[in-house]
Amino acid sequence: MKLQDHIYYVGVNDRNKVRFEGLWPLTRGMAYNAYLVVGDKVALIDTVDSRFFPRFADKVKAVIGDRPIDYLVINHMEPDHSGSIPLVRAMYPDVCLVGNKKTLQMAEGFYCQAGETLEVKEGDCLDLGGGCSLTFYMTPMVHWPETMVSYETQSATLFSGDAFGCYGALNGGVLDRDIDVEPYFPEMLRYYANIVGKYGQQVQMALKKLAPLQLRMICSTHGPVWTEQISRVVDVYNRLSLYQGEPGATLIYGTMYGNTAEMAECVAEGLVQGGLKHFTMHKLGRTDESYLLADAFKYKGLILGAPTYNNGIYPLMEQLLTDLSHRGLKNRLVGCFGSFSWASQAVKKLQEFAALPGMELVGEPVEMKQGFNPEAARACRALGETMAKRILEN
Ligand SMILES: Cc1cc2nc3c(=O)[nH]c(=O)nc-3n(C[C@H](O)[C@H](O)[C@H](O)COP(=O)(O)O)c2cc1C
Ligand SMILES: [Fe+2]
Ligand SMILES: [Fe+2]
Repeated sequence: MKLQDHIYYVGVNDRNKVRFEGLWPLTRGMAYNAYLVVGDKVALIDTVDSRFFPRFADKVKAVIGDRPIDYLVINHMEPDHSGSIPLVRAMYPDVCLVGNKKTLQMAEGFYCQAGETLEVKEGDCLDLGGGCSLTFYMTPMVHWPETMVSYETQSATLFSGDAFGCYGALNGGVLDRDIDVEPYFPEMLRYYANIVGKYGQQVQMALKKLAPLQLRMICSTHGPVWTEQISRVVDVYNRLSLYQGEPGATLIYGTMYGNTAEMAECVAEGLVQGGLKHFTMHKLGRTDESYLLADAFKYKGLILGAPTYNNGIYPLMEQLLTDLSHRGLKNRLVGCFGSFSWASQAVKKLQEFAALPGMELVGEPVEMKQGFNPEAARACRALGETMAKRILEN
């Protein structure tokens, strides 16, 4: 599929994978995007998951026929993109692998690649002839250490790797202007929160580095090719990597016997009483953590509730707290509630989380002993109301 002069889409859809990286649920499939830049020389930008190689090879052949691929540019070594490197090499034995030092070391480590390579550094330019050239910019830890992006100057096209990508197969169209892009935006948020979220600082560095480039097209390795939505996707990445939350809240609670759940209902009533309309409510174990991370990245308010469990906190909440703090989530207003029967631990653990750098505890933490009761209900409503007011005053 031609995207513009000299640039072709040769990616594939995976509609079978249940969890990306074995972790993150895929409900709309996944696209592994790869591209051809065809000048006097042919450059392939990234490959696809090796299981899709035959389909991918057909697509490449449909564009270049019997011409060889001269360069295989590897922007990112995660196997969803690098998986077909050995197969491309087998089919085009003279292909030159283009990557930075770390990339080429990884290619060796993953696939024992012998053969021609070209090591590139920050700002190096590869002339493909026919007016096409690729300039390389290093974007370490977005989201692997070897990650780089490639920029084709004539068409002002950025091959951005995973950056600006999202979950979701491409249904018949690739360019944003040809399809309904709205379903992809929540999936960009979820992809970011799940996979890139820890590296906000590195994403900021990459955005600053790439800011001077004129951009007519962003070709990510997942999801639509961005043209008319470029400023929106850059803005999404900017806000997420600054850990800016929208005015709204996520209320996440765990429960075994329903007492903490009753508390959560009252917190939600308090949020509404306080005038907050935009919030989501999730029961741990019912909603996959992938979506909880997404909502935690989306909203300014984060209200967490859990029972005490074996002298600690309810295990699914412990996991969530770990995963949120691993991602360095910050700039959040945090509310806490929980329950116990003989020696409380849960609320203490939640308060420790709320005391992490960049977190601000809002309202009185509510701690309930044994059964749900009117006093706890009042305190939970007050917590919700205080949180709502705090979010709305910002
Ligand atoms: C397996 C299990 C372990 C528990 N461990 C503790 C504990 O260590 N300390 C405590 O005070 N309560 C403990 N509890 C009691 C619960 O924290 C308490 O009943 C809580 O209110 C349950 O909330 P829920 O009704 O929302 O499930 C435990 C309960 C269960 C089922
Ligand atoms: Fe990746
Ligand atoms: Fe990827």
